[in-house]
Amino acid sequence: MKIINSISHMRKQVLLWRQERLSIAMVPTMGFFHDGHLSLMRTAGNKADRVVVSLFVNPAQFGPNEDLNRYPRDLERDAKLAEDTGVSCLFYPDVKDIYPPGFQTWIRVDGLSQGLCGTSRPEHFRGVATIVAKLFIIVRPDMAIFGQKDFQQLQVIRRMVMDLNIPVNIIAHPIVREPDGLALSSRNTYLNMKERESALSLFQALQIAEKMVASGNISVPEIIRAVKKHIQSFSNTKIDYVFLGHPESLRPCREIVGEALLALAVWVGKTRLIDNTLLKQQANQAHQIDKSKGSEI
Ligand code: PAF
Repeated sequence: MKIINSISHMRKQVLLWRQERLSIAMVPTMGFFHDGHLSLMRTAGNKADRVVVSLFVNPAQFGPNEDLNRYPRDLERDAKLAEDTGVSCLFYPDVKDIYPPGFQTWIRVDGLSQGLCGTSRPEHFRGVATIVAKLFIIVRPDMAIFGQKDFQQLQVIRRMVMDLNIPVNIIAHPIVREPDGLALSSRNTYLNMKERESALSLFQALQIAEKMVASGNISVPEIIRAVKKHIQSFSNTKIDYVFLGHPESLRPCREIVGEALLALAVWVGKTRLIDNTLLKQQANQAHQIDKSKGSEI
């Protein structure tokens, strides 16, 4: 595996692969790899001839009082894990090269960046969109793999590549979970034992919602109430938001028709965790609703 720090060196490597007509898949990351990251890398390896993993803890996507300084970092460990997973190149640029003095060019994806995480993290998606666009310009991958845990991020990036005609195929990867259901995240390392128990409330709340929908309850206020009640029954939890709405527009809805995104952000102690699921209205429910309106599907 090649470990590349300089942008010009990265560009030269990509040029060589392009001359050989090799396809490139990219996995953008902020490092401190867990099985979720490794799973994205394996998927990338199954889809392209070469896999580039970027490792860059992007200061522009952290707010002033967020965890930029304590974000976990271990380049040596990450390099070993990436190499063992079959990655072709680990690209870890420096902050000073990505944001040179005088930097003032930003990418904003307006509507999709507002609401959900955008409410409490107003500049977050500007930072994400800008770094991802820069990485795409440097590496010019054919495709890039993103985890579905950051569902809003995925939609922001999809919108950005569409709006800016960036020729990168965006591939969503399902959420990877611990055996008990906790979604994998580098931030899970912040949790002590008691908080780790409370962190499970997110996944359990998603399951409660899934069961409600499966048993025919499609009322958004009722589902949100049940989700909040469950999370609040755990110690040290503070809900940032519970969102239920359209998975593409990220606009809230009052009833679940077809498919809806249930997304959560919850503080567990000093750690902010996110999780989500797609709630699917059963086919027979859709049939009943349509009949009640007087038309058959
Ligand atoms: O999901 C992440 O780890 C980051 O937001 C990303 C996409 C690597 C951009 O810094």
